[in-house]
Amino acid sequence: MSDFDLKIVNGTVASASETYTADIGIKDGLIAAIGRRLGSADDVIDAAGQYVLPGGIEAHCHIEQESSSGLMTADDYYSGSVSAAFGGNTCIVPFAAQHRGQSLAKVLETYHGRAGPKSVIDYSFHLIISDPTDDVLHNELPQAIEDGITSFKIYMTYDRLIVDDGQMLDIFTVAKKHGALTMIHAENNAMIKWMSDKLVTSGHGEPKYHALSHPRAAESEAINRAIALAGFIDTPILIVHVSSAAGARIIAEARYEGRKVFGETCPQYMFLNMEQMDLPGMQGAQLCCSPPLRDRASQEEIWRCLQNGTFQVYSSDHAPYRFDSSGKLSAGPTPEFPKIANGLPGIEMRLPLLFSEGFMKGRISLNHFVSLAATNVSRIYGMDHCKGSITEGKDADIAIWDPEVTRVVKATDLHDNMEYTPYEGMEIIGWPITVLQRGKAIVANNELQVERGVGQFVPRRKIDCTGMPGRLAPELDPAVNFGVDLGL
Ligand code: URP
Ligand code: ZN
Ligand code: ZN
Repeated sequence: MSDFDLKIVNGTVASASETYTADIGIKDGLIAAIGRRLGSADDVIDAAGQYVLPGGIEAHCHIEQESSSGLMTADDYYSGSVSAAFGGNTCIVPFAAQHRGQSLAKVLETYHGRAGPKSVIDYSFHLIISDPTDDVLHNELPQAIEDGITSFKIYMTYDRLIVDDGQMLDIFTVAKKHGALTMIHAENNAMIKWMSDKLVTSGHGEPKYHALSHPRAAESEAINRAIALAGFIDTPILIVHVSSAAGARIIAEARYEGRKVFGETCPQYMFLNMEQMDLPGMQGAQLCCSPPLRDRASQEEIWRCLQNGTFQVYSSDHAPYRFDSSGKLSAGPTPEFPKIANGLPGIEMRLPLLFSEGFMKGRISLNHFVSLAATNVSRIYGMDHCKGSITEGKDADIAIWDPEVTRVVKATDLHDNMEYTPYEGMEIIGWPITVLQRGKAIVANNELQVERGVGQFVPRRKIDCTGMPGRLAPELDPAVNFGVDLGL
């Protein structure tokens, strides 16, 4: 009998801090040994000249999810997970969305039913909380956290999803008590409505005006408010899909002060800009997302904030709506921008874009690429015990990247259920050519190697904020508030 089921030899292995040449021995789906001259194996992959990196973890994507207006995303858990795998990912964390009146237990049951039989890679869920009733806050949410769903998203905008400041405080209190992380879509609802109204009534309803209707100030106001409210309760938050320099700066400042704040940005804010929405007819609808694309100067600032660590998380925010009546044009062939479904596809391109434009072009190190691809997310979202790095004892989730492969992006080559990609025509240097999950090839030789449903649910641990001191607001601290104990 061989020592290992599989060995990957001669590759350049990288973690979030180190790069070295080593062989990796895999046994029973786990990384069993890292070193040289390791012993025998049933199978061997020669990775000479290639990078052997942790499989990516895509922690912000919308898959087989109904929007608040009832529109279903174009990808289900099969096409979404296949597309993720071809883009070098071995784990996804999409959203399980609670719409008003729904019970969280039922929502999670629905999403387990969607993902379990179809996903080809491992998965977890973040909840979306839109209806924080007493039962949700005191029974359902604590139970979901206990069951390994240790993060959830709330919205400060969208009429059918928005939670007000008081509801945010209630949600933060539960998150703090039970060790969960709250993700925040931070945009000021009134500013967006006011601008949208003004634009549409003055005859500016074409898709490109969507970019003006969500001002940068709407984002920075809401980020500021979210940080103030969460800081008051002293609970960790993650501001998702940050698009503006002003928003990033508020996050950087809060982190400087030791607050429990994380930041995320997405490829669309680094590789695309609003000028690209100025297209004939409805074409610009393909680039309507929220927060919207900004200008070229913002693009540079977002890159800088990724480089300097203001953003610890880099996610696709894959929200695929086809350019037809099933998606972008569900309100008719020529809807005004407020009626265009928000979101861009990008789950397969997230990592190739960053590898090519970030690492290969010298903007970030290989180790920083690994942090953003997998390691940071595994730590922040409580998956560090099994995923996120090539470490003995962890799952053998590995992507082997060939820096010699160059490709011109074409929607028809991607594996999602979309007919367009915002990155059409870009030249990409380097590609994940072999992707292993728990030691088994899921992608090799440009082919999917597994059946639907091989992905497994990953229960996540409570959120670890070691090193982020925060502080309880004096008004809540019995030591200085005349002894009032609100149980926080
Ligand atoms: O436009 C976007 N980003 N749609 C997806 C939903 C969300 O808010 O992340
Ligand atoms: Zn959002
Ligand atoms: Zn999203």
